Amino acid sequence: MKRPLRIAPSILSADFSNLGEDVRKVVDDGADWVHLDIMDGHFVPNITFGPPVVKALRRHTDAVFDCHLMIAPADPYLEAFAKAGCDIITVHEEAGPHLHRSLQTIRNLGKKAGVALNPATPVSMIEHVIDDLDLILIMTVNPGFGGQKFIPATLRKIEQAHALIGDRPIDLEVDGGIAPDTVGAVTKAGANALVAGSAIFGKAEQGSYRAPMEALRAAEE
Ligand code: DX5
Ligand code: ZN
Repeated sequence: MKRPLRIAPSILSADFSNLGEDVRKVVDDGADWVHLDIMDGHFVPNITFGPPVVKALRRHTDAVFDCHLMIAPADPYLEAFAKAGCDIITVHEEAGPHLHRSLQTIRNLGKKAGVALNPATPVSMIEHVIDDLDLILIMTVNPGFGGQKFIPATLRKIEQAHALIGDRPIDLEVDGGIAPDTVGAVTKAGANALVAGSAIFGKAEQGSYRAPMEALRAAEE
């Protein structure tokens, strides 16, 4: 069954001095989810923000907070992110030895559980936790920074993840280098949730994010 297309702007490319207003605006302009990139300077070579910022943003919108944890270890912080207002909590497969435990913890906190795979990690790594998942995030760049170039070899992985999902109610998300010129290929391969930072926040038209988000939707195949 085909799942609805979700546009998830990554606020990594938003105005950090005016985040609340930027989040509100991107949701008003048609975003389905808000993608929050949490980086620890250890699992990835960049640092962003933690639960207090998520909590502060929560007051600005009711939209789904799609939280991408690029932190290791993740387990000690899952409860704090759940309490701060994350709706989907995605951990990296590479971030710890006990993925099944992490996913169970997230679901026990009443949240949707996601797992992210770096470009070099095979889809087979999540075969045995497929029924413990609500979302699979295929990284289409190496995590850490916005504005990188899409890695074409990840397309095959999107297809494999799509086949693994089958009829299960699992969203298939892609993150990194997603723009009108790559949306066709990733949606054709089976992705239904599109994370985009620079292609949305870097492409405002007269202060509106409507046109760049429509351009992403229009490129679906
Ligand atoms: C990268 C982050 C992405 C990033 C995407 O590690 O996970 O969410 O913001 O940025 P773009 O869309 O500019 O490639
Ligand atoms: Zn992300």
